[in-house]
Amino acid sequence: EKGGYEHFMLKEIFEQPKSIHDTMRGRLLVDEGVIKMAGIWDHVEKFKNANRIIIIACGTSWHAGLIGEYLIEEYARIPVEVEYASEFRYRNPIITDKDVVIAISQSGETADTMAALKLAKEKGAFIYGICNVVDSSIARITDAGSYTHAGPEIGVASTKAFTAQLTILTLIAFKLGKHNGNLGNAEFMSLIAELDAIPKKIEEVLNTTHELTQNIAKDFVSATNFLYLGRGYNYPAALEGALKLKEISYIHAEGYPAAEMKHGPIALIDENMPIVIIAPKKGHYDKIVSNVQEIKARKGKVIAVVNKGDQQVSSMADYVIEIPETSECFSPIVASVPLQLLAYYIAVYRGANVDQPRNLAKSVTVE
Ligand code: F6R
Repeated sequence: EKGGYEHFMLKEIFEQPKSIHDTMRGRLLVDEGVIKMAGIWDHVEKFKNANRIIIIACGTSWHAGLIGEYLIEEYARIPVEVEYASEFRYRNPIITDKDVVIAISQSGETADTMAALKLAKEKGAFIYGICNVVDSSIARITDAGSYTHAGPEIGVASTKAFTAQLTILTLIAFKLGKHNGNLGNAEFMSLIAELDAIPKKIEEVLNTTHELTQNIAKDFVSATNFLYLGRGYNYPAALEGALKLKEISYIHAEGYPAAEMKHGPIALIDENMPIVIIAPKKGHYDKIVSNVQEIKARKGKVIAVVNKGDQQVSSMADYVIEIPETSECFSPIVASVPLQLLAYYIAVYRGANVDQPRNLAKSVTVE
C-alpha cells in the first residue's frame, strides 16, 4: 500500500502533482476562465459583505492559514486574521454575524478547532470548512466548505494535505477577488493559467531535488538546531519547513520571517548553525540577499532555495536547491516540496520512525 515507497510520507510527498491536480479538478476551468466552487458561490454575499475573515486552525493547517491571509488580502482585499484554534477559543474573542470563519483541518477532527468553531457558530458567524477527510466532524458542523481531495494522508507529518489546502485557499482568493472586482480579468486569467501548471512544476521539482536533498541531508544528520527563514508568502513556508524537520527528525528547528533575524535569532548564528533560506526571485529578493550576507558574515551554513539560474544568493550559499520560477503567491507550494524531502531524509538518516513520530498523533482529538 506504500506503492513501492519506503514510507507513507515519501509516497505522499510524491503524490503532490496528482493531489494538487485532484484538488483543482472540476473547480479550475482555465479555458472558460472560471473558478467553480459552489460552497463559495452559494454564499458569496456573506464573503463580500464580511467585516473580516477569521481563519482558525492548528499546526500545519495554521501555516496554510497564514498563507491564506496573504492570498485573500492581496487578491480579494478582505481583511483576514489567522488564529490558533486553542488560543481563539479561550480568549473571549470578538465575533459577530458579520464575520466569516474559515476552519482548516486535514483530519476534520481536531478538538481545539472544533471547539473554536462551535463558539464562532454560537456568536452567529458564518463557518466555512477546508477539510480533507470527507464527512468528518468539522466538515459536518460547517455551513459550507470545500474538501481538499488530497486523498488519505497516512504519514503523521502533513505534506500533501498542506499543499492541497494552499490550492483551495488560492482558488478562494482568486474567486473572491474576481467577484468583488479587486482582481482584474487579465491578471485573473494569467494567474489561473499559472495555477493550472503548478502540478507540472511540482513534478519537475520532485525530479530535480530528490537526489539533491538526500545528499544535503547526509551532511546534517548530526545537527542539533536549524533556522528556516523566508519573507512574505514564504515566511509561513519557513515555519512549515521547520515544523516538518522538528516533528520527524527531533532536531530543534525554528522558522522566522527573515527580517526578524536581527531582532534575536542572529545571536545563534555561528559555523554550526544550518539556515534554510527561501529566496525566490519574486519576493523581496534584494532584502533576502542582504539577510544571506549577514548570515555568511557570521559563518552560518546556508541552504538556499532559489529559482533556476539564480546567481546572487547561490554564490554565497553552501547548498543550493533550485525550483522553477512562479508568481510569488505560488512559491510556498513549490518551495515546500524540497523542504519536505530534506526533513524526510534527515529523519530517515537519523533512523527515526518517519511515519509515526514519537508523541504525535494523526488526529488530535483531545485538547
Ligand atoms: C504537522 C501536523 C499537525 C497538524 C495539526 C492539525 O505535520 O500534522 O501539526 O497539522 O495537528 O491537524 P488537522 O489539520 O487535522 O486539524
